[in-house]
Amino acid sequence: MSSDIPQSLRSIRHFLAIRDIDGEVLKTLVDFCIRRKAEFQRGRLKPMLQGKVLAMIFQKASLRTRLGFESAMAQLGGHAINLEDTQVGLTKREDVRDVARVMASMSNAIMARVYGHQLVVELATYSSVPVINGLSDWAHPCQALADLMTIRERFGELGGRTVAYVGDANNVARSLMTACVKVGLPFRIAAPEGYGLDQGMIQSARMIRGKSGAGIFETHDPAEAVRGADVIYTDIWTSMGQEAQQKERDKAFVGFQVHADLVKLAQPTAVVMHCLPAHRGQEITDEVIDGPQSIVFQQAENRMHSQRALLELLMS
Ligand code: CP
Ligand code: NVA
Repeated sequence: MSSDIPQSLRSIRHFLAIRDIDGEVLKTLVDFCIRRKAEFQRGRLKPMLQGKVLAMIFQKASLRTRLGFESAMAQLGGHAINLEDTQVGLTKREDVRDVARVMASMSNAIMARVYGHQLVVELATYSSVPVINGLSDWAHPCQALADLMTIRERFGELGGRTVAYVGDANNVARSLMTACVKVGLPFRIAAPEGYGLDQGMIQSARMIRGKSGAGIFETHDPAEAVRGADVIYTDIWTSMGQEAQQKERDKAFVGFQVHADLVKLAQPTAVVMHCLPAHRGQEITDEVIDGPQSIVFQQAENRMHSQRALLELLMS
């Protein structure tokens, strides 16, 4: 069954950031995730990773990423080991270069959730097995992959649909923007002043846009971003590691909640997405997250399906 992995996907060695992946390859990867999900649902998945081990290291909390990877490894006949960073002590107890070499010598792939993005880059530099970024302060590529998969499932294609992100221009927003422009989805972002995307990111995304034709639009007005959009996306205002800024962020993001009146400005067929965990009543209301336009739980489940396809691709 591994022979039916599209050849272009073989070029992916590590999965650290969406920006590293060519737009056409990304579309093929999304198709592959959808195909494998269908096979899984029909009970046709083969245990492609028997005897293989995924070594995971978490510097931050997780539900979806960890459960998605562990379940996926079990479904493929392999095993996942969770190494809490409180035990490993990346950079404190042991140098990243040594951790990478040791982990690679005892496993077939490494998944790391870290604070500084440079840590996953260093792990990949010194690891002889594939390294997956399970979220860093800068990027969340596994989330963006599941997001594209979910958008493609809902609309039947990637391209042409407008994605409006309301909230903090964080790791999730950066990866989502890059993913959108790479596959041809116009991207709008409404963030308070001082919490928008950095200009370097916008510049590189605009260069990518040259190929896909998808534009990027920035505003400080959620209504302007959401009007006529097909996807409304939000995330928490204070990400893991930013807890000390919570009070000032709570003030800065007043008016950036995704509520029913805002959703009404989008297309009637629009969907609402959130990477979760959500702070209900803050960046999103109960009415919206539990409402008929919300696809957040399909999106969450797709973390497992997309990560399983990714593991098969990288490890088999
Ligand atoms: N969306 C996401 O990555 O969830 P976890 O932090 O629970 O893994
Ligand atoms: N932006 C959030 C995403 C959590 C999945 C964080 O980094 O905490």
